[in-house]
Amino acid sequence: MQIINQWHSFDTANQVAQAVCTQILQSAEHAISARACFHLVLAGGSTPEKIYQLLANAKTDWSKWYIYYGDERCLATDNSERNSTMAANALLSKVDIPTENIFTMSTELGAIEAAKKYRQSIAKVEQFDLVLLGMGEDGHTASLFPGHIHDQDETVHAVYNSPKPPSDRISLSAKTLANTRQLFFIVTGASKCEPVKQWKQGVKLPVVSIAPNTGVDIYIDQAALA
Ligand code: 6PG
Repeated sequence: MQIINQWHSFDTANQVAQAVCTQILQSAEHAISARACFHLVLAGGSTPEKIYQLLANAKTDWSKWYIYYGDERCLATDNSERNSTMAANALLSKVDIPTENIFTMSTELGAIEAAKKYRQSIAKVEQFDLVLLGMGEDGHTASLFPGHIHDQDETVHAVYNSPKPPSDRISLSAKTLANTRQLFFIVTGASKCEPVKQWKQGVKLPVVSIAPNTGVDIYIDQAALA
């Protein structure tokens, strides 16, 4: 089936952040009115930080939000380089999402143990409502890197030899990331120009392997499109 990519371009990264924040809140409102819960998978890296900071000021029923991660680096729980640290500082420490609704990846236990535990954490989720993803300069997303082979039957992978430090991580699988009603890629900055070009040319980058039936929305600024 042909997966439809919807490209939404904006002049600046701030405008991308504003637009994505608005869309996340609309997605949440729809999910909460339809199913009384909103299952959101957070992206890691630095790009989403602005979005999470904007979300922290939003008016929504936080008690109905359930938070998951697309990937996490194998670092101590309080390490500033963890995706969960960025999310906590930008958003989760500022809003009233019940602690039991926030599913952090226990990567301080090492990749094998953390992947095993996280498979249980997401086992009860029939389908996410929204998955947020970034993209690296080599076209990776979450911690799915070019040339890495994974067991496609796994819902969560242990990742080694990541080209982006740290080398050990865990990542939701392409199939698990695609098990969602909506999926937003957020891509900004001139450093993403080359992978965006390859993406548009149909190069089989890891970002291309995430194929929800509903297609994906790509929120991008001019700097990454130039
Ligand atoms: C990570 C992220 C990774 C990130 C991209 C983009 O743990 O590093 O999950 O996939 O989203 O590398 O990173 P930036 O947003 O910092 O460019």
